[in-house]
Amino acid sequence: MKAIFITQHGDSTVLRLRETETPIPSGQEVMVRVTAIGINYADILVREGVYPIGPLPAIAGAEVTGIIESVGNDVHDLKPGQKVSGVAQHGYAAYALLQVSQVFPVPDEIPSEQALIFQALTACHLLEQTNGYQSLLITAAAGGIGSMVVQLAKSRGIPLIIGMTGNNKKMEYIRSMGATHAISFQDDQWASVLQEITARKGVDLVLDAVGGPIGASLIHQLAPGGKMVVFGSSSGVPTTINAQDLIWKSNSVTGATIYAASMKQKQQWAKEIFQKIMQGSIRQKTSSFPLSAAAEAQDLLKSRSVTGRIVLMP
Ligand SMILES: NC(=O)c1ccc[n+]([C@@H]2O[C@H](COP(=O)([O-])OP(=O)(O)OC[C@H]3O[C@@H](n4cnc5c(N)ncnc54)[C@H](OP(=O)(O)O)[C@@H]3O)[C@@H](O)[C@H]2O)c1
Repeated sequence: MKAIFITQHGDSTVLRLRETETPIPSGQEVMVRVTAIGINYADILVREGVYPIGPLPAIAGAEVTGIIESVGNDVHDLKPGQKVSGVAQHGYAAYALLQVSQVFPVPDEIPSEQALIFQALTACHLLEQTNGYQSLLITAAAGGIGSMVVQLAKSRGIPLIIGMTGNNKKMEYIRSMGATHAISFQDDQWASVLQEITARKGVDLVLDAVGGPIGASLIHQLAPGGKMVVFGSSSGVPTTINAQDLIWKSNSVTGATIYAASMKQKQQWAKEIFQKIMQGSIRQKTSSFPLSAAAEAQDLLKSRSVTGRIVLMP
């Protein structure tokens, strides 16, 4: 089969298309014929050596939709021919193995690229980091996870949804996803604009994937009792906070990872997500590339010029 290998850590030139053995499932694994591969920002961090991966060369990660071809001996509830989505350790390939514990059955009517579920599950997890909030701010709101957070927040009736971006050209797209407001860090006055939007109350829930100085400045934009959830650092710079700043308005800052959510909870979210996709209340805007263009596709994501998500079609 064809697969994209990370040959060593580095820029996208280390990604190579190669022929390799088709994997055979064992135990609690299913083997799928991959029909869509979702590119995540984390794939770039793995390639660069920021996030861990085993010995190289190795087939790159991660998120896939596919049709089950065969199953391991300990798999009883899933059958060949079923359409599924999930996260594969080596997903940039024509065929991939998925652990049963990471498999989500997909309704047949949902196209493969729409069924990629990882970012939407992450969005659900983030939206449940606190209760009763009336205002929400998400950074990188035009990105894969950001677009999903905005749409799911709208579908759940959150009154004030503020999408942030570092690129003025993405503001219209953010509003089109359902954000009540879009703000760009390119505007020097963004903090005053935000204050106006919230009538000087601040924001109840801030979700930050960018980090660095932007993440640090957002702590000062929280409402009394407000919470900031750090779930990534796409800028490459961690957020540094002064814990004393949290005292005056009883604010809190936490981290969140989708990997901490239970499988039962993720299966429930997956049902909600697929139902909303079929009803048309949420959608993933996708740009598709062939598997052989994995390097160009990752470069495009890194360039910050895309809205929505990038998908490889094997
Ligand atoms: N905690 C979890 O469970 C979890 C799970 C999956 C992913 N993540 C994290 O979530 C974040 C979003 O992932 P994604 O796949 O949906 O990616 P994405 O948001 O589609 O792409 C990254 C975006 O980050 C923004 N950005 C700001 N500063 C940047 C910089 N210096 N360099 C590059 N990008 C910058 C850009 O948006 P603008 O152009 O709008 O500024 C860019 O489009 C990543 O940090 C990822 O590692 C966390």
